[in-house]
Amino acid sequence: MRTQVAIVGAGPAGLLLGALLHRAGVDAVIVEQRSPDYVLGRIRAGVLEQTTVDLLDQAGVAQRLHAEGLLHGGIELSFAGSLHRIDFKALTGKQVTVYGQTEVTRDLMQARADHGLKTVYEAEHVSVHDFDGAKPQVRFQLGGRNEVIECDFIAGCDGFHGVCRASVASAIEVFERVYPFGWLGLLSETPPVSHELVYSNHPRGFSLCSMRSPTRSRYYLQVPSDDKAERWSDDAFWDELRRRVHPSVAESLVTGPSLEKSIAPLRSFVAEPMRFGRLFLAGDAAHIVPPTGAKGLNLAASDVGYLARALAEHYAGSDEGIDGYSERCLRRIWRAERFSWWFTSLMHDFPETGAFGHKMQMAELGYLVTSQAASTALAENYVGLPLEA
Ligand code: APR
Ligand code: PHB
Repeated sequence: MRTQVAIVGAGPAGLLLGALLHRAGVDAVIVEQRSPDYVLGRIRAGVLEQTTVDLLDQAGVAQRLHAEGLLHGGIELSFAGSLHRIDFKALTGKQVTVYGQTEVTRDLMQARADHGLKTVYEAEHVSVHDFDGAKPQVRFQLGGRNEVIECDFIAGCDGFHGVCRASVASAIEVFERVYPFGWLGLLSETPPVSHELVYSNHPRGFSLCSMRSPTRSRYYLQVPSDDKAERWSDDAFWDELRRRVHPSVAESLVTGPSLEKSIAPLRSFVAEPMRFGRLFLAGDAAHIVPPTGAKGLNLAASDVGYLARALAEHYAGSDEGIDGYSERCLRRIWRAERFSWWFTSLMHDFPETGAFGHKMQMAELGYLVTSQAASTALAENYVGLPLEA
């Protein structure tokens, strides 16, 4: 097999890169270790910045997103027994779109199938080779047979546990913080409590009321890192959620059986650099943010937005984009890392910081909801910082 760009991983990063390259007339093949059903079975965040919506438009895959996505002009912050709205639209002129990552993935897969673009699923023992030279290769096994893809470039879109970053581990510097808690998430076929997302700082721990559609809700509770989803019955989840939200939210909460319950650990992680000769890392393969603020998918999208443009420019005769890829991505990544770390630190219970730490959170939240400057800083980061030219 021969292609211009071999993409490892068919998550949102790999699929969106494939769609953008197709639009730019660049040929790509995607190699994924799992099955399509497995990829679509993962439940993840669901808040898209306008920059991400613009990239999905550019890729020609945003029709259903525009029809079914929910435009949100703000969020609610709950703390110390009160609720406060941060009005993104008034403060920044921008909004976000609530549309599940699973649906983004489904739309991208459908578009790939419609255009007859090649994706190899259930590839085993995937490995990347010779990206220091001019003729890189991706090797794997399919149904027991050895396969090779010869290419000009490799895009490592294979997530946090992928093979691409592992293949350059000795050339990478890692910056990391692991938080002492995770998020227990529950998905249910029930109407959301509010028309906007509600982030709560509560002495029993953080909670978030989110949604996927007018009839489907997503809720999260901060839990200790060593907790297990199996230990939580649906009733126990709903009871704990009611305790951690504003009374008006608890009153309007509609409960129902869970469709999914799982725990995600919280981590901040950046690997530098993101380019190694003809191998590029993008998305979760290069960085992780804690989910507070929903930056993960948006960062993956901006990485591949820069990468698709850089590769198209290469085939048009300029290597400026690929030479600047790592630095350009990392500037935006570090700002999103800062925002996600700050919002996580503000909203969660950190027992080790004691009563003083809690007082600091309350003072900061009080300032945040009364100062236009502070509210604007939250709003402009939440709706997404602009892409670089
Ligand atoms: N070979 C081939 N494919 C692989 C390999 C491998 N060795 N290792 C992992 N993969 C696949 C995974 O099965 C997965 O489908 O790579 C894909 C990576 O997808 P994601 O983990 O979704 O990462 P990414 O596309 O960067 O999307 C980032 O996902 O985790 C969220 O918060 C994150 O929303 C963000 C988004
Ligand atoms: C979600 O709906 O899954 C979600 C929303 C906002 C976040 C994180 C997750 O900050």
